[in-house]
Amino acid sequence: MRNLIAANWKMHKTRAEARDLARALADALAAAPASPSAEVVLFPPFTAFEAVREGLGEAKIDFGGQDVYPAESGAFTGEISPGMLLDAGCSWVLTGHSERRHILGESSVLVGEKTAFALKQGLCVILCVGESLAEREAGRLEDVLQAQLADGLANVPAEAVSRLAVAYEPVWAIGTGKVASAEDIAAAHAFVRSRLNALPGTEAGQSVRILYGGSVKPENAAGILALDNVDGLLVGGASLQAETFLRIIRAGQTA
Ligand code: PGA
Repeated sequence: MRNLIAANWKMHKTRAEARDLARALADALAAAPASPSAEVVLFPPFTAFEAVREGLGEAKIDFGGQDVYPAESGAFTGEISPGMLLDAGCSWVLTGHSERRHILGESSVLVGEKTAFALKQGLCVILCVGESLAEREAGRLEDVLQAQLADGLANVPAEAVSRLAVAYEPVWAIGTGKVASAEDIAAAHAFVRSRLNALPGTEAGQSVRILYGGSVKPENAAGILALDNVDGLLVGGASLQAETFLRIIRAGQTA
């Protein structure tokens, strides 16, 4: 299975900055090609898609939206449809990022509607799940993951499972510098894998990549990728500079 190394730029980068960063990644990977074991995806803000496309040129790097709305079109002010993302050159979308769940108040049911609809419309999806510190300390890790996955994966069509990935991102590790321990990551990923195996088309569950996210850095990337059931990384802060993100991509090649 190829490692999926994803860059979540969040609400960062003007068009010019996005073009420069995309170009720097493309140039570096052209000079020293990525091994086929790493697949790279960028999640820029909506306003920077065109700039990223320009910066990437012919590079084999995909990009996607950080969010999507589960309808083809209509009176949904501020929202963006899967068709619009595809039209802008996206092949991927993130759903259920913890900042959307916790800051914007998105429910797991809405996250599930987004996931299923985006997959049906032809996008590849990274569904994000993860527990808060209070939930972990209350011993509720598995309950929280179970509920987020049950709602998040409801109505995912069996034929679309090949375009699905799941990111385990403990909320307390995002942007905090606190990385989950190897044991915590391995345990959470094993649990996610067991839930994926329960999806219709059981064998497909084995092929769904499970990414870890939360304070991933060049220094810890290879160690995390070496863990069982870790098939990629979702990187926030460390993806905003070409040099650090490239070191993480390269960690993915050697793991
Ligand atoms: P971080 O963010 O790498 O800055 O912790 C990860 C994410 O939110 O996807």
